[in-house]
Amino acid sequence: MPSIHEAPPGPEGAWGIANIADFHADPLRFVTRCAREFGDVVRLGQDNYLVCHPRDIEQVFVNSQRTFAKETGQKPSYARTGSYHYALMHTDGEDWRYKRRLLQPLFKRERVDASAEQVARAAEEMITSWTPGEARAIEGDVAPLAAQLVGRFLLGSELSANEVRRATAFVAWSFRPLPIRIPRWLPTPGNIRFRWSVRQFDRAIYGLIERLRERSRGSSNLLDLVQQARDGEDGCLAPAWYPRDELAIMLLAAHQPTAIALAWTLYLMALHPEVDARVAAEVEQLGDRRATVEDLDRLAYTSAVIKESLRLYPPVWMTAREAIEECEIGGYRIAEGVSLALSAWVPHRDPRWFADPEAFRPERWLDGSLEGLPKFAYIPFGGGPRLCIGASLAKLSLVLVIATVVRRYRLTLAPGAKVSPLATASFLIPQGVRLVPRARA
Ligand code: HEM
Repeated sequence: MPSIHEAPPGPEGAWGIANIADFHADPLRFVTRCAREFGDVVRLGQDNYLVCHPRDIEQVFVNSQRTFAKETGQKPSYARTGSYHYALMHTDGEDWRYKRRLLQPLFKRERVDASAEQVARAAEEMITSWTPGEARAIEGDVAPLAAQLVGRFLLGSELSANEVRRATAFVAWSFRPLPIRIPRWLPTPGNIRFRWSVRQFDRAIYGLIERLRERSRGSSNLLDLVQQARDGEDGCLAPAWYPRDELAIMLLAAHQPTAIALAWTLYLMALHPEVDARVAAEVEQLGDRRATVEDLDRLAYTSAVIKESLRLYPPVWMTAREAIEECEIGGYRIAEGVSLALSAWVPHRDPRWFADPEAFRPERWLDGSLEGLPKFAYIPFGGGPRLCIGASLAKLSLVLVIATVVRRYRLTLAPGAKVSPLATASFLIPQGVRLVPRARA
């Protein structure tokens, strides 16, 4: 029997503090270096390990609910926390199972497929405001588009893109990794702004709930479903503010990574005119009409472009689990309470799984070269029972939006544009994507 080691190797750092500073200075470079230098399980700090091998990532994702938890802290018994602890995303155990079952009907195939027409129409509306030859900060286009799409899908309603965007942008900002954790109660400018933003977001969400409450009754949308949650039933934890928590987090979880994926994909296509031309040729074969859900099978290359973009720039680049009992991962003993970081960035750019991993090569998804790829080497939507609940909606939306844009425009990088990834606690945000739309001949 192979022996089990006590602690994995990792970078030297005084009680992990030096590592925290290195991590925050450049998180992507730090995790890449750790994986390259120290192997498949890396000790980042005292109770904090990075898990890099698909076999071990699988073990953590698949045993998610038994051995590992997302949040082990006490849930607050009051509404004003700014962290929305009762949402599906932040729950575990029976509570998670109850909420996942409750919300699953929203994401059934027919409902996702039925949204295709709206997705393509919204993308058409987005590009009507574009002027050929005029550079655009693409985030300003794709963020409102994503807010609109998820608002319609989840709530059957037009959401004010600004409402969602202003508040979510700040919440994302507030979760930026900071070298030192500042207690929330200190009246620092950041904390004052955070509380102000939570209030703004609460106001928007409660306003929305009020507006939709009557209309939602009996229709299958998110608000109607969350209003059916019964506190105490089958382990469900649903205090009075559960609808707020679920709406807030679901809107965030849905709109932010969708917008990020669109921006990265359009950027990568602008950098690779040969890829753009192949997508355009594929879309042209559909004829002069809006792409529909039936076309998805015919848009194989476009889908490969999306897959490759999610590989190189996974919008949710980092997540974590905490061991709730002692276990073994990759030959190392994991004590209860140890936090395991799982970063899609690491296996996605590991040459053991993807040849020439830094290259943007959508064909790799079509030419058979990825046959035998370990399932958990590619994890843009996570995996196991907690796989992204919106994954099929996201894939359909990304393909149809890209197909709609490409039909009308070829995008090129604006002169002088400097693009860089900003890694926040979970999101990999593209910064500085300025693109110039050029009418397709
Ligand atoms: C490109 C777009 C998207 C990406 C890359 C993405 C990625 C992910 C990932 C990696 C996870 C797992 C996190 C973990 O295991 O800790 C996740 C979970 C989740 N996602 Fe997505 N997501 C996307 C779009 C969406 C959409 C459109 C929705 C809803 C309409 C959504 C709702 C959720 C929810 C509620 C969870 C938590 C599920 C659970 O814990 O049971 N996501 N997503």
